Parts: sequence; C-alpha cells; structure tokens
Amino acid sequence: MPTAQKIIDYLNSAVLVFDKNLQLLKINTAGEILFDDSARHLIGKNANNMFFSHSELISELHSAVNQGDSFVNRELTLNLPHKNITLNCCVTPINENNQLSCLLIELQEIDRHLRISKEQQLITQQNISKMLIRGVAHEIKNPLGGLRGAAQLLELELEDPNLKEYTKIIIEETDRITELMNKMLGSNKLPNKVTLNIHEPLERVRQLVQAELSNSINIRCDYDPSIPELNADKDQLIQAFLNILRNAAQAITGDQGEIIIRTRISQKMTIANIHHKLIAKIDIIDNGVGVKAELMQHIFYPMVTGKDDGTGLGLPISQSIINQYGGLIKFSSNEDQTTFSIFLPLGNTNG
Ligand SMILES: Nc1ncnc2c1ncn2[C@@H]1O[C@H](COP(=O)(O)OP(=O)(O)O)[C@@H](O)[C@H]1O
Ligand SMILES: [Mg+2]
Repeated sequence: MPTAQKIIDYLNSAVLVFDKNLQLLKINTAGEILFDDSARHLIGKNANNMFFSHSELISELHSAVNQGDSFVNRELTLNLPHKNITLNCCVTPINENNQLSCLLIELQEIDRHLRISKEQQLITQQNISKMLIRGVAHEIKNPLGGLRGAAQLLELELEDPNLKEYTKIIIEETDRITELMNKMLGSNKLPNKVTLNIHEPLERVRQLVQAELSNSINIRCDYDPSIPELNADKDQLIQAFLNILRNAAQAITGDQGEIIIRTRISQKMTIANIHHKLIAKIDIIDNGVGVKAELMQHIFYPMVTGKDDGTGLGLPISQSIINQYGGLIKFSSNEDQTTFSIFLPLGNTNG
C-alpha cells in the first residue's frame, strides 16, 4: 500500500496545505503541474503570491482562517503567470485540539476536464470512422482482383488493338482503386519496434520533402538534442511525419515559404485520461495559406480534402499511427501560420 503522500500525488486535483499565516506547507504533483513549479520552490510561499491579485479568494482564505468556515468557490478564474485557468476551489480549515492547524485547499481544473473529454471524444470518433472505412475498403477491394483478372483474360482474346485501350483503362483504374483501398486499410504489417532517436525519422522526412520541393521553400530545424530515445517503428513514424510535412509544403504558394520542424520535451501531460510524465512534442510550422475555415473541424476524418488531387487520407493515417503510441496530433491555423503538433509519450506512464 503506497503512503498517503504517494496517493495524494496520484490525485488529479491539486491539493495545497497552508498554515494559519497562509504560507504553503505541502503541495501534491497535480499542484506542481498547475502552478508550473516544483514543490521545493513553492513551499513557504504566501497564498497572496501564489494566487496573485485574486483579492476575493485571498479574503475568503483569511476568513476561513479567522472564522474556521469552509467554502467552495465554483468556476473561479485564476490568472497565473503562464496561463489563465478556470477551476473549482474547495477550502477546508483543519482543527486540532480546538485550534486551527492548517487550511486544506483542493483545486480542480475545469478546463482540463473539458479538454480531456474533448480529446477522448476525438479519439473515439476516429476509431469509429477507422472501423467504418476498413469495412467499406474491404468490401470494395474484394471484387477488384476478379475484375482485373477478367480484364486481362479479355485483353488476350481481343484481336483489334484499338479495343485493348479499353481493357487497359479497366486494369489501370482497378490498380488505382486497389492502391487507394490499401492506403485506407493501412499497413497490416506488425510494427517493428526499435529504440530510436526521434530526430532520425524526422531527418529522413526532411530530406525526402526537401528533394521534392522547389527551392523557394526553406525547411529549418530547431531540434532539442536532449529528447530521450523512444521505442517505435521507424517506418511508421516516417509515414506519420511525412504526411504532415508534405501537407505543410503543399500549403505554401508564395516564394517566401518557410517550414520549421521544432522538437521539445514536454513534461506531465494527460492524453485520453492517461497521465504521461515525459512527452516529445514535434511542431511542424508552415507559413502557407492555412487550413480552410470550412475544413477546420473535419481534416482528421478520412477522405476530407481541400485539394483537387487529394485523397484526404494523410492526416487520418498519421493520427492513427500516433494514437497507436498513445499520442495525439493537434493543430492551430490562421492565414499567417499553421502549426501541427505531434505529442508522443516517452514511456513512464501513470495510468
Ligand atoms: N499545413 C496545412 N496547411 C493548410 N491546410 C492543411 C495543412 N495540412 C492539412 N491541411 C488541409 O487538410 C486536408 C486534409 O489533409 P490530408 O488528410 O493530408 O489529405 P490530402 O493532403 O490528401 O488532402 C488538406 O487537403 C488541406 O486542405
Ligand atoms: Mg496530405
């Protein structure tokens, strides 16, 4: 059985304990994440400093100390130096020998819950659409083999070479649809996982896209070399990154095109209800035309495309690969800049 402190560290709510002078005595891991600082730094700080200028909350804390009243403050907005967050705050004075011993504060981030359930919804939707697509693709693919074979037999029987044009079209079109269906079904190879540095597949993809590109697009790398290695199938990661980098290159129309590939370590992040201690964050940033407004909500669905010759399969394939590793792809876009962020957990999971 873990110690009480360990159990408190596993809680999703931030737990803070203040003494009667409103100086911080204890804080759990969720609290450290919320305040983006270590317990070592925070302990001893005064509530006035931690909750900044939130005068209403501060005066409620004083009255909790003086009158011993507990209270709940719902949908409180806190302006922390690095972010604004909405939370529910529950304050309980704890007495010992009829005297106030300390003040227990529980903070539950509302935004975070909303965000997590949205991400969960996104993943569920994607899984459903993946299953549907696989079903349809199988049904379409099955008769294609027969169709191609029959066209080949017919071709052999035809004496008039002009008529062979038609069988050629049937064969070529069948091959095109088969390839499309294979893409939709995804690879059925088992992943070949090896220990690798995230920059290996990224560099490969950069070289590939650079070779395809016109010289007017500059691809800049901003890598964090300290990112730990991860266990993954290199070809799968290449596929996932390539689809995104190609989209970035295709979105650039002018001659001042720039793509930045940026890697960073991100600490403590929850994806689909799983808490990860360490995450590699890969941003692919372009200064192209931006994602069309009408496509914003749908681009991760299969067959959604804004291009005349697009298949709409690049992003769903990337998302499904990254999901397999417990990760997630998000994006933000306007007419100046589009950023696709890939979050890949680096082991060490707290479920
Ligand atoms: N970096 C980007 N900038 C602008 N639009 C993008 C970008 N990435 C993706 N998109 C939009 O998302 C659509 C879907 O992308 P994808 O799934 O790769 O399919 P495809 O590239 O075949 O259209 C694209 O057609 C494009 O409209
Ligand atoms: Mg694409």
